[in-house]
Amino acid sequence: MREVQLIKQFEERINNGESIEPKDWMPEKYRKQLIRMMSQHAHSEIVGMLPEGNWITRAPNLRRKLALLAKVQDEAGHGLYIYSATETLGVDRSDLIEQLLTGKAKYSSIFNYPTLSWADIGVIGWLVDGAAIVNQTMLAKGSFGPYSRAMIRICKEENFHKKQGFEIVATLAKGTPEQKEMVQDAVNRWWWPSLMMFGPHDSDSPNSEDLMKWKVKLNSNDELRQRFVDLTIPQAKAVGLTVPDPDLKYNEETGHWEFGEINWEEFWNVVKGNGLMNKDRLRARNKAHEEGAWVREAARAYAEKRETAN
Ligand SMILES: [Fe+2]
Ligand SMILES: [Fe+2]
Repeated sequence: MREVQLIKQFEERINNGESIEPKDWMPEKYRKQLIRMMSQHAHSEIVGMLPEGNWITRAPNLRRKLALLAKVQDEAGHGLYIYSATETLGVDRSDLIEQLLTGKAKYSSIFNYPTLSWADIGVIGWLVDGAAIVNQTMLAKGSFGPYSRAMIRICKEENFHKKQGFEIVATLAKGTPEQKEMVQDAVNRWWWPSLMMFGPHDSDSPNSEDLMKWKVKLNSNDELRQRFVDLTIPQAKAVGLTVPDPDLKYNEETGHWEFGEINWEEFWNVVKGNGLMNKDRLRARNKAHEEGAWVREAARAYAEKRETAN
């Protein structure tokens, strides 16, 4: 069958709401875009463990420590799950990991900011996992079966992450003046990077058009960012915190919160590798990879042994 016809059939299936499975025919561009997006997502889950892992030993009590430990472990699970889903597209996980370790692959820029206080852990759960939920709820309705199914499962855990974060934030916000100041400072530092998580403006997002036509994404970056702001501002108000945006105002007519311009220079600078923690994160991942070499070797030897025993 000619490619034009195949594409037509493929697009018809998508428009009928069918999901595309790994063995189905798909345009090469769809496959490539998904590999790019899904591997970046998997890398983000894994690198995302670092800023929070930094606080496990310093959590203020056992309950907080257990919750944070479980959350960081969940993120590892998300990463592994999405790497597996990416492999269904015919790539090898070790190649993807290699791209991460050499700095060739990208991951979410939010993880290149440092976690300076315990309040950052609350604010990350609230804002960063909150932003991830907005994005992933959309991805759960996407056209590629393995990815959308992974998102449904992952979103359930993200909700728990967000709740544990918001609980920390709410507790600090009604604590001593020092605690309130600490949590407000964390919000001030994480607010804009959280909005950047949705990516560049639609007009500067070169991949968005195809991704939307093929229902890999169902909403644009700006639409999702607006949804996140609309959801989050009332939550901030509920606990008496503010966001560092003098232009923020509610528009009665549209029912949306209007917000100021994002510092795109900062965004691109961090994407290019010049954020505060880019080098640290890559160094930590490389170290963990090297230190885990014996585990991979042992697993390989064990698998071979079982193979010959059968
Ligand atoms: Fe996650
Ligand atoms: Fe999470």
